[in-house]
Amino acid sequence: MRAHSLTIDRRRLFRGAAVLTLAGLLAFAVGAQSAQGQATAPAKPFSAQVEKRAAEMRKKMTLEEKVGQLVQFPNGGTRGPDGKGIDQNELLARGGVGSLMSPSDASAVNAFQKQAVEKSRMKIPVIVGTDVIHGFRTIFPVPLGLSASWNPDLVEKTSRVAAVEATSEGIRWTFSPMVDIARDARWGRIMEGAGEDPYLGAQFAAAAVRGYQGKDLSDPTSMIACAKHFVGYGGAESGRDYNLVDMSERTLRDVYLPPFQAAADAGAGSFMSAFSSLQGVPASANHHTLTDILRGEWGFRGFVVSDWDSVNELINHGVALDGETAARKAVTAGVDMDMGSGRYGENLVKLVRSGKVPERVVDEAVERILRVKIAMGLFEHPYTDETRRQTVLFAPEHVALARRAAVESFVLLKNDPIAGGAPALPIAEGKTVALIGPLADNAGEMLGVWECRGRDSDVITLRQSLADRLKDKLIYAKGTEIETDSEAGFSGALEAANRADVVVMALGETRRMTGEAASRTKLVLPGNQLKLLQAVAATGKPVVLVLFSGRPLALPWEAAHIPSILEAWYPGDQAGPALASTLFGETNPAGKLTVSFPRAVGQEPLYYSIMNTGRPVNPGNPYVTRYIDELTTAQFPFGWGLSYTKFDYSATKITTTAARAKDLNTTGAITIEATITNSGARPGEEIAQLYIRERGTSVVRPVRELKGYQKILLKVGESRLVKFTLTKKELSFWNIDSKQTVEPCELTVWVAPHSDGGQPAQITIAP
Ligand code: BGC
Repeated sequence: MRAHSLTIDRRRLFRGAAVLTLAGLLAFAVGAQSAQGQATAPAKPFSAQVEKRAAEMRKKMTLEEKVGQLVQFPNGGTRGPDGKGIDQNELLARGGVGSLMSPSDASAVNAFQKQAVEKSRMKIPVIVGTDVIHGFRTIFPVPLGLSASWNPDLVEKTSRVAAVEATSEGIRWTFSPMVDIARDARWGRIMEGAGEDPYLGAQFAAAAVRGYQGKDLSDPTSMIACAKHFVGYGGAESGRDYNLVDMSERTLRDVYLPPFQAAADAGAGSFMSAFSSLQGVPASANHHTLTDILRGEWGFRGFVVSDWDSVNELINHGVALDGETAARKAVTAGVDMDMGSGRYGENLVKLVRSGKVPERVVDEAVERILRVKIAMGLFEHPYTDETRRQTVLFAPEHVALARRAAVESFVLLKNDPIAGGAPALPIAEGKTVALIGPLADNAGEMLGVWECRGRDSDVITLRQSLADRLKDKLIYAKGTEIETDSEAGFSGALEAANRADVVVMALGETRRMTGEAASRTKLVLPGNQLKLLQAVAATGKPVVLVLFSGRPLALPWEAAHIPSILEAWYPGDQAGPALASTLFGETNPAGKLTVSFPRAVGQEPLYYSIMNTGRPVNPGNPYVTRYIDELTTAQFPFGWGLSYTKFDYSATKITTTAARAKDLNTTGAITIEATITNSGARPGEEIAQLYIRERGTSVVRPVRELKGYQKILLKVGESRLVKFTLTKKELSFWNIDSKQTVEPCELTVWVAPHSDGGQPAQITIAP
């Protein structure tokens, strides 16, 4: 097997970022626009002038220069796209590369750019990209955590801040957002997306694109988004990363494509083709998805970059025997830029010269890339202002947003009364608190993975925040490591618990247990953390479990025995302050799950919007769809999340009197409403969710599908009427004739606090 010609540790390079001082930070306005009520931009973000200029420029290029534009090369790579030892400056100067990955800082970017712009014949600037996933220097919660806010406006803001920071170091392109639907908690990359639902996923996809790209691509703070991994990657069989994906065209259309289409509609400048195969065709050689759907049906005018080495990996998939065939298949399917494999650089010139790849294919790919570079204003302003980073990186406003984002990401999974009295949360003032666990004071873990230029030293841990607040009323004991068998710390933990009024346990996964190549078959607390938790719970002290994870975990003992559980994900820089304010009730948790938490790993893939079977669950009848040793339901369902206050839902009311498929397929709508009341003792935010089910249709439809939600703030005793509208967008699906259409059916709707609640209402959709 041929060694990977460009293999370098990209993440290590990236972590070698310049050290910058926080002194002299200036006030900086985030300037993100509200997501509410914003119309999505058209799928074609380029003006006629941009299109024309790209075409004219392409006509002046030699074949070698055109192929150069299709090559992405990692900064620091030692062998070039043609497989030979490389002088990076020489490569840039001869126009042999269109994009660079992960340079160290703005001055490095400017030095590379100088070669491209001043030395190369065509003077085409390089586009510099890296993985800015949940913040650049200021680190926000991991994407799955951010999605638990059900607040796309928040993600638009965090993405805007990430863009403002990253562009100050010359990064004008991010390989984000990951908009893969993920329904299997074993898959480590579930952490990188917005969860299991296509409706919600589409909202977050569009919001991230708006945030990264800003209002105008030519603004120096605009960063091109990259919707990834196109497509189906999250459906990896067995939840094992990189594994094959096999699904029907219907599931692809109804579930996996909508967030990508939303990203394209929001104007995403680029897409990334996945590692995985779909229905036997590797994503990086899939003409149907990359060309027929993305360009043909959606009108996408940006460019597609392969995932890392995935062009070369066509050989491993077995659809190419050599690099030449791999390059030919990828480029003709619609992969415009080759990330890191070198196969385009090595082969495309000769493939065109020998007539095996029509030059038109290369021309189209080049124009797509040039369009983006032109729209970004790179030709006019190729260089990065090296002074801006001093005022924007880790600016106080960004840090404040990180705190707010962390607060919004927390999900209160459980908060039972203790011995018939008040629940342990929020913790009353004056109590002595024992803080126990390996994640209570671990700065690095709080950042999650893809931490970009985040620094451990920027993080405030839960221990630091509680120590500030509680002084000598805090007793800290680490208790154990995340992954160990040693019980050496148990006695200290028990002693701390015994001296306290309430115990906060900070337990969970290491951050490296999620992300790429981090699939798990066990969804339990690693090491001996459960044993420690059980020992502490046996003291009889009220226990609050703060759970850090990048995925749903299956925690049956914990769910049954621990009265209060708060899912904190990986909260980012402001983990401590955000958690402390939540634990003490200054902020009221309002997040809701965007992924189902299983009871047992054997239930995976587990998601709420399943298709009914011919034998639905029916207690008392053994010959139905079920397990003989476990329930089929989630431990904590999609949409679940509690508050320190209480919300009551009225019956769901359909306010439309008659509905016809004919009208709904054009401009018709069905309107729905319900009243929500804060009947508890604190103000709080509630996420009211609209679910539908269609029966009597040409194909089986899910038992429930999310089709709307509203996050509302209610004062104590306040009631609010929430209204929803269903149109073709929400009611149509890929029917038996392979048409996206609304069919006559019996429609059930619920306005509900989660995917397993609410009162149904019905209406017939007549033909
Ligand atoms: C990942 C992508 C990422 C790329 C570049 C790949 O291994 O799958 O999500 O954008 O590397 O770092």
